[in-house]
Order: sequence, then C-alpha cells, then structure tokens
Amino acid sequence: MKNFVKINSKIPSFKKEINVPGDKSISIRWVLLASKAFGKSKAYNLLESDDVKSTIKAMQNLGVKIKKKNNFYEIYGCGLKNYRNKKNITIDAGNSGTLARLICGLLSNYNHKVKIIGDESLSKRDFYRVIEPLKQFGVNISSRSGKLPVNISGNSDLRPIDFEEHKGSAQVKSSILLAALNTPGITTIKCPPSRNHTEIMFKNCLKIPIKIVKKKKYEIIQVEGLKNFRKFDYKIPGDISSASFFIVLTLLSKGSRLKIRNVNINPSRIGIIEILRKMNGKINLSNKRIYKGEQISDIIIESTKNLKSINCPKNLNTKSIDEFLIIFLLCARAKGISRFKGIQELRHKESDRLKMASKFLRMLGIKVKVSFDSISIYGKPDLILKKKYVVKNFMKDHRVFMMATIAANVFGGNFKIYDKSSIKSSFPNFLQILKGLGSKIN
Ligand code: S3P
Repeated sequence: MKNFVKINSKIPSFKKEINVPGDKSISIRWVLLASKAFGKSKAYNLLESDDVKSTIKAMQNLGVKIKKKNNFYEIYGCGLKNYRNKKNITIDAGNSGTLARLICGLLSNYNHKVKIIGDESLSKRDFYRVIEPLKQFGVNISSRSGKLPVNISGNSDLRPIDFEEHKGSAQVKSSILLAALNTPGITTIKCPPSRNHTEIMFKNCLKIPIKIVKKKKYEIIQVEGLKNFRKFDYKIPGDISSASFFIVLTLLSKGSRLKIRNVNINPSRIGIIEILRKMNGKINLSNKRIYKGEQISDIIIESTKNLKSINCPKNLNTKSIDEFLIIFLLCARAKGISRFKGIQELRHKESDRLKMASKFLRMLGIKVKVSFDSISIYGKPDLILKKKYVVKNFMKDHRVFMMATIAANVFGGNFKIYDKSSIKSSFPNFLQILKGLGSKIN
C-alpha cells in the first residue's frame, strides 16, 4: 500500500463535532499499572495505537493475561511481587519512549534478564536519564552509550532513593515512581513540574501513599513502596495531543467551528490552549468535570482571523512539549515574530523536532531562526501556498506527518506527504476524522 497522501485543495469550512481517541500517556500507564494490580481491571476507550499495542505485547510477554472484549480491554493483574513468566525475554518498545522508559522502572524487581529494543528513532534516544536513577535503587541496568538496547535484571532487594531530576521529564519521573512501588520505604523526587498522570493514578486509583509539595519552580514527590493495590477500571478520556491538530485546523480554516468532546484537560497538558489563547485563538472549554482526579471537558474552537505572535513564557514549555510542531505551524500565519526559548528537549523526541519544524516551515517560505534551544518564526498573516511540496525524510515522525497534513488543508498548494503509516503510533484514525470534516485526501 502507498505510504503517502496527496492533498491538492484546502478543506472547505465545517461546523462539526468529533471525538479523538483515548489519551496515549494514560492508556500506557493503565496497561502497566493494571498488570501489577490484584484482580481483573477493565478499560474503555483504550487507545488502539502501535505504542499501546507494544505495551500490551510487552506485558503479555511477561505472562500477564490481557483480553480484548467488545468495547473494553481486561487485564488480569498479578500483584506487586512478580510476573508469571520466569524466562529471560526481549521487549520491543517499537516507537514508544514512554513504554521503553516506564517499563525499566516497572521491571526494577523482576529477577530475570530483559533486553529492551526499539525502532530506528527510539534507538537514537537517550536512556541514561532512566538508567542513572534506577542504578541508585540497586537495579542491574546497562546499555552501551546510553542508547537501546537496554539490558535490565531486577533486584528483589531495592533501596529507596532521593533523586533530583532537572529536565522536567514525565517519563523519567514516572519510571522512578514505578520503581518506587517495588521498593520498601519512601522514595523522594525533586523535579520541575511535568504531566502528572502517574501521580494522579497512584492517588485516585491505587490509593498509594503519595505526598506532593508544590514550590514555585519544582515539586517534591514522596511515595511509599511495597503497598499492594487492587484492580481499577478506567474510561480513558480523549488525548489533547491528538485534539491539538484539529484545534489548529479550525483556527486556520475560514468560517469553521468544531467541538471536540471529552478531552483530558489536565493543567499539566494544556499549554497549547494557553498559548493559542494568548495568540487570540477562539477556544472555549465547556462541560468541565473531574474523573478519577483528571480534568475533562469539551473543547469548542472557532476560526480566528487576527492571530498574533507570541513570546512564549518558559513555564509553558513542558505543558505543551508534544504540541510545539502544530503550534509553530499556527505561528506561520500569525502577525509578528513568535519566539520560543528553552525548548532543547524538542531535539530529543521521535525526531529532532526543532530541526524538522524549521526545515518544514522554510520549505513553505517562512523565515525561521533556530538555535540549539530556541526558535523564532516570522509569521505571514496572508500566507497562501501555490507550489508543489514534497514532504519526505522527516524521520517518520507521526507528529510531523500530521502537522504537514494540516498545513496542506489550510494553506493551499499541492502536497505529497510521505510516512503516512507513522500515525499508527499515536492516532491511527487521524485521516478518517480529517476526511469526515471534509478534507479531500488521496
Ligand atoms: C510522556 C512524556 C513526555 C512526552 C511524551 C509522553 C509521558 O516525554 O513528550 O510524548 O507519557 O510521560 P518526556 O518525559 O521525555 O518529556
């Protein structure tokens, strides 16, 4: 099957309602934690993407029974102690940094050898960030030059740690929190704030003793380990990272309005909404509610004419870490120069997203200045494209593919965009939803 799409016309104006698939971070955490619960947990609206499928396979590989029913998944957890499989195994994390890093923490007390591997993009990413704290727990974990494959064999005699994390990485924080579950005593982490789904699940679903003290620039989290927990059911809310492509599509499509139902709006995830509102974007949250400690709402977006540039406050960086590509695309149409600083972590994602963003925007004729940790985008409010554009060799990054597809729908031009299959990692029905709104995609 061809692995590209062709888009030769802008999307006509639309007024619709959509749902986006379940949140990826929450889906992966549910699978990992339900496997350690006592009893049978159920999840509805679990994201059925490659990253989550790799997580399910990894757990099955460890001997966890997981069943797919009509509209839910069931996991037969085996308790904190250990997994049923007593053999050395290899876990293929595919494209998923979240799975690869979190599972290292989860396996901290698994007494067999596990080798973790991944695809080309994941094999370029840094694992020292989890190896360092896990070694302090007493886990046998190693890798050559901090990259995959990572070899790990757990230890039933772990010691709690007191760790300072500086990057504001939720994956590192969560890996430590999962290791803390297997460790006697109190583990302490001091870190800049980042997405807190793990902490929310610990507190609201697992009833694990967890204490969080919030300071201006960092948090101190303390968890008491070796507390068994019972099965927990979950209805996974929609993913704001997937919604973000449709938020920007609507803002940039003349005469359009969109309601996205049932999206997770955890304050640690909605930097995109704060940023786009500062740029004049018409975005409203309605029907707000709390579900198991997570905030959820419908998002209503209206197309906006007078978009203005932003000097993005640094405290919004971790809150929008996965949304920068699509935010940068909006900046291409905003009046003035948009500036983002302190975003070097973007260079360590599924691709070097600072490099990919500047390469893409320059291809569209947008002036961009980039340094190792910043980008300035010179917006053109009257941007209309007329030429042919081939989007190829962008490291098969799913979010680059979706950003380019949105660009083709709002700026015009004749686009051929490669690596369609990359969307399977986070948002398999992205193109179906886009077509449902009226986009003509070949
Ligand atoms: C994630 C954390 C973030 C994010 C990733 C998902 C998570 O990564 O970019 O897509 O689920 O914990 P970092 O922890 O590397 O910032």
